[in-house]
Amino acid sequence: MNRNKICVDHVTVRYKNGRNRAWPWSRKNGSNGAGKAHALDGASTAILQDITLDIDAGEFVCILGHSGCGKSTLLKVIAGFIKPDEGAVLIDGQKVNGPQNDHVFVFQEGALFPWLTIIENVDLALRSIGNASERREKAQYYLELVALEGAGGHYPHMLSGGMRQRAEIARALAAQPDILMMDEPFSGLDYLTRLHMREEMLNLHAMLPDTTILFVTHDIDESLQMSNRLVILSESPARIKCCRQIDVPHPRTAVCPTLSEMRTQIYHHLGVHSAL
Ligand SMILES: Nc1ncnc2c1ncn2[C@@H]1O[C@H](COP(=O)(O)OP(=O)(O)OP(=O)(O)O)[C@@H](O)[C@H]1O
Ligand SMILES: [Mg+2]
Repeated sequence: MNRNKICVDHVTVRYKNGRNRAWPWSRKNGSNGAGKAHALDGASTAILQDITLDIDAGEFVCILGHSGCGKSTLLKVIAGFIKPDEGAVLIDGQKVNGPQNDHVFVFQEGALFPWLTIIENVDLALRSIGNASERREKAQYYLELVALEGAGGHYPHMLSGGMRQRAEIARALAAQPDILMMDEPFSGLDYLTRLHMREEMLNLHAMLPDTTILFVTHDIDESLQMSNRLVILSESPARIKCCRQIDVPHPRTAVCPTLSEMRTQIYHHLGVHSAL
């Protein structure tokens, strides 16, 4: 029986227009969302409009849409970083009122701690393991998984963009979270590493079938290869344009006729009618 894990219930998010006064949000000053601009002129623009989406435990959902349509915003609302202006997000039936420890978010812009080495960054995700050498061994295992075994002693600024992204993925995987939210985690990786990481994501999901994965990507093939369901957002203000269930078993090959047909339909949904 499917268990409803995440319920996005008629969520609308508006960003205030105007210059960002760039102070952090706090519940005390009455602002209603982390990272939202504090308007000087009071006007606002709807970014997400009446989004309703139910996600079952263990689903692997890819979110697609044009740049700037609101994919990251939707993920941040589900993660509790942004409070919706209307509607609510429920996880396990509880209203989301802020970020949770057992949900891990891989940011589009990267969020390693710059004062820690790469292995120390991964180590942090393993703090539930009391024994330090066991923890270090596990951290090394996750670095190997993303081909960074030689970079554990480096600080983030010493790595390339793609390496930093891989380190962040290692840290996220090490946490073995209940919900894994990934915002274009492979965008800085070279093509071969991307293919390798797709496989690793699928292996991880097979190993941890109860982990619910929300994955934002622009790469349609990536989403077709990995996910159980695609959610396509419309252009701004984003609504759900369409959802597609993908029941093709893994491993999925690029020449699978069902996937090819779906690929064409998705391109059409995204307004691409040639160069398929
Ligand atoms: N903190 C903010 N304050 C005001 N507007 C914002 C803020 N963050 C994002 N926006 C606006 O909200 C819209 C959606 O942004 P979002 O980052 O969610 O898009 P996206 O779909 O993730 O885009 P991309 O694919 O380029 O990452 C954009 O128009 C963006 O300019
Ligand atoms: Mg984004």
